[in-house]
Formats: sequence, structure tokens, C-alpha cells
Amino acid sequence: MKGIVLAGGNGTRLHPVTIATSKQLLPIYDKPMIYYPVSVLMLAGIRDILIISTPASLPAIQELFGDGSQFGLNISYTPQPEPRGIAEAFTLGAGYLAGEECALILGDNLFHGAGFHDLLHAARTDLSGCVLFGYPVIDPQRYGIGEVDDEGRLISIEEKPLQPRSDNAITGLYFYPPDVVELARGLRPSARGELEITDINRHYLAEGRARLVGLGRGFTWLDAGTHQSLLEASQYVQVLENRQGVRVACLEEIALRMGFIDADQCYDRGIQMRHSPYGRYVMEVARAMAPALASR
Ligand code: TTP
Repeated sequence: MKGIVLAGGNGTRLHPVTIATSKQLLPIYDKPMIYYPVSVLMLAGIRDILIISTPASLPAIQELFGDGSQFGLNISYTPQPEPRGIAEAFTLGAGYLAGEECALILGDNLFHGAGFHDLLHAARTDLSGCVLFGYPVIDPQRYGIGEVDDEGRLISIEEKPLQPRSDNAITGLYFYPPDVVELARGLRPSARGELEITDINRHYLAEGRARLVGLGRGFTWLDAGTHQSLLEASQYVQVLENRQGVRVACLEEIALRMGFIDADQCYDRGIQMRHSPYGRYVMEVARAMAPALASR
């Protein structure tokens, strides 16, 4: 399975902050926003990742991640000239995916919760259709809402319903089988001129090939697309990290635990960033795994 992070867009709701920079490079507390979606793909065991962003933002994102080898990843890049919709990720990424299954995540989505690794792995095992992830919200009128039967099969999708049939918002993380690329190629732009991910999902729904995995109470899902939600996301991460002493979406730590890099590589990354608490945390994580590093 390959991963795509869709990290373009205009970020108009964050103007003027995003006039000269990408939304996905703004900090959520102690790391760039894009670390959070990348961490989710890594937790799902994905090492081949395509980052799609605007031609203007791509060089900075490339400077941040390079080829991804510091995290044991292979990261590639593709520009999206105009934000023509989320489903364009599959046509832009068609050559990259080369017939493989795909996990798509939006660049401004933050997921966090106990057992996420196991949940993602379980979701990957049956990709006869698409797998979406639902999160209960108090204001379903603002989201795409999914309704499921007793077996977790999706039975309806409603966009911003006035009278929602459920409170399960469809989040910005999606798993698809290889045929998603052909489906995306057949899409026509919607009334707002975008290739809609909902149209893809409705297709799987109509064929009875769509599942919605519920992220329950133990999870947090945030998107950071407005000034308010950006600050709230930072505060959420700050409270968790300072209270528990663990870090959310520390890519070096995840890479080490997933076996993508070894403790030496992790430690070296920490040293490069030793003037920041993040860097010192990375060094500690490596030392905890390989105590001999303490003598370096
Ligand atoms: P949105 O929040 O819908 O759009 P945006 O980021 O441009 O922000 P605004 O509404 O304030 O103008 O996008 C959700 C995520 O998907 C975000 O990370 C950007 C990304 N995206 C693309 O990369 N390309 C696209 O064509 C679209 C529609 C979104």
C-alpha cells in the first residue's frame, strides 16, 4: 500500500497567514502541521509516500522532508497546479500508485488516540472496497456524514445534511483499492468546480463496497483550517505533551518503533535538533531503546 498526503489548497480561511506560506507548514505547537498526517501513514505501516502540494509550496515541503530517508521513508513529490479537488490526488498520483492500494490523508488533519496503529492495520486487511473513518461530532450539519449498518458497511453519505441521520463525520483519511484511479479518471467536476472525493465514495457505496470504521471516544480528530482550530490543535498537543511527557506525531520516534530506522539514526537526528526540546526528546527516545548511546 502506498500513501498520499494532499497538502495543497489555498488556505483562504487562514488569510493573511497563508498568503505567503503553505497551511501545512504552519506549526501545530512544536512541529509543522504536515508531520501529523505523515505520522498516520507511518503508523499504518506505509513507507512509500507521495506529497502533493501547490507549485509554490512544494520546494519548502521538499526542504523539510527531502527523500524521507531520515525516517526510513521514500518520499516523492507532485505539484497540483490548481486546487481542483481532493479526488484529483488519484489522477495526479496514478503513475506513482502503479496499481497499488492507496491511503489518502489530507494535510491539515490531526488524528490521535490509543490503539490507532492496530486499528489502521485491521482496516488495511480488507480492501475489497474503500475504508473511511468516522468520528462523532456535535455539529453534523457542517460535515460529510456517514451512516452504517450493523456490520460497519456504509449505507448512506450526506453532505452537510440539515437533518443528519447520524453524527458520524467522514474524516480526511481514506483507504482505497487500486480501482480508485480509474474511478477518479471518470469523474466530472461538481457545481463548485472540484473533483469530489464524495463522488468516489458514493460509487463504492452504490456497489456495497464501502466501510466506515468508527473512531470512538478514545480518539481525537481535528482539522486545523481556521485560526480558531489551528490554535486549539496547538493547545491540545501542548497539554498532552507537557502533561504526559510523550510527543504526538514525533516522526523519528514512530520510525524507530516501526523498525524503519535504528536507534543510531534516531539519535543522530536528535543531535541535529538538540537546541530544541523536540530534538532532545528524539535523543532520549533513542537512548531508551539503546542505552549504549548515552556514552556518545
Ligand atoms: P480545504 O480545507 O477544503 O481547502 P484549503 O486548504 O484550500 O482551505 P480554505 O478552505 O481555507 O481555502 O482542503 C482540505 C485539505 O485538502 C487541505 O490540507 C488542502 C488539501 N487540498 C488540496 O491539496 N487540493 C485540493 O484541491 C483541495 C480541495 C484540498
